[in-house]
Amino acid sequence: MEAVCMKIHKIAFLAGLGLVLSGCAPSPTFLSPASLIADHEASLYWEILIETISIFILIIGAFIWIFIRDRDRGGKKIVPPQLYGKLAWALIPLLAIILLDGADFVAMAQTMFAVAPPAAATQDIQLHIIGHRWWWEFDYQNQHIKTANELHIPVGATVQITLDSVDVIHSFWVPQLTGKTDVIPGQTNHMWITSDQVGEFLGQCTEFCGTEHAMMRIKAIVQSQADFDAWVADQQKLALQPQTAQEQAGYTLVTTLCASCHSLNPSEPEFKTGPNLAHLFSRSTFAGATYDLTEENIRLWLKDTQTMKPNNDMNLQLAPQEIDQILAYLKLLK
Ligand code: CUA
Repeated sequence: MEAVCMKIHKIAFLAGLGLVLSGCAPSPTFLSPASLIADHEASLYWEILIETISIFILIIGAFIWIFIRDRDRGGKKIVPPQLYGKLAWALIPLLAIILLDGADFVAMAQTMFAVAPPAAATQDIQLHIIGHRWWWEFDYQNQHIKTANELHIPVGATVQITLDSVDVIHSFWVPQLTGKTDVIPGQTNHMWITSDQVGEFLGQCTEFCGTEHAMMRIKAIVQSQADFDAWVADQQKLALQPQTAQEQAGYTLVTTLCASCHSLNPSEPEFKTGPNLAHLFSRSTFAGATYDLTEENIRLWLKDTQTMKPNNDMNLQLAPQEIDQILAYLKLLK
């Protein structure tokens, strides 16, 4: 009895812990959809889950029923009726499989057509997403702005997206907004987003792409058209010029040490290895959307990027005074 109680306690504890953890760390899931695509995916998921659970219950129920019906009743050997040569016993399951699989096929095909990219003419925003080890570049081709890791889109808009990689295979996935799409060097893939919900939605690279694969995240910010327009107008502004001597010194360091990998031009036409810095401090995260973008974190980053994100391409040895100067300038870049 005591052992049974211990077991129940353990199960209750684990179930409670699971509930607490799932409450504490809301993980992004397509089951709380915020877009047309995730809506379709979630409906298909529930449909098939309910179907498979029903079949599971029917089959296990039948097993249990037969075990009970034909159990050993104290020595009396009862042989259940043996059925041979009945074609119906083969045809019924066959028919059931054909019907169920047919229904699943139709549901899946409907979903595939529903999430297929709309005609190229239907677009409010043309977005080019480029995968880098280990961050995301977002190039708003009609607005002529480039940003990194944080994606802004207006609610209700049709965003036509092309995806490319400059190095290895990545995969773009913001579960609440869109299905996974591989990002492959030498091959342009396409996808789209139409979100019906204002909010912030997290995503993650879902194709192993090296040591910092886990630090290749995405923050998608769906906002009202007015907020989006204001964001675009801010991003289109040129990077601010330094004013104080400290900022001036930082600007000189950034344009000499950082310019080969980072641009200060928000519309940066040329290819760069690292994220565009023109409006760095307008973002809430950095380093593949894995760290909060705060003054302290950027200071730590400048001190030692390799501890915060080992193997990333940035490797600078800066004196404390240089870090202060660079930070003074970068803080202007809102
Ligand atoms: Cu990029 Cu994993």
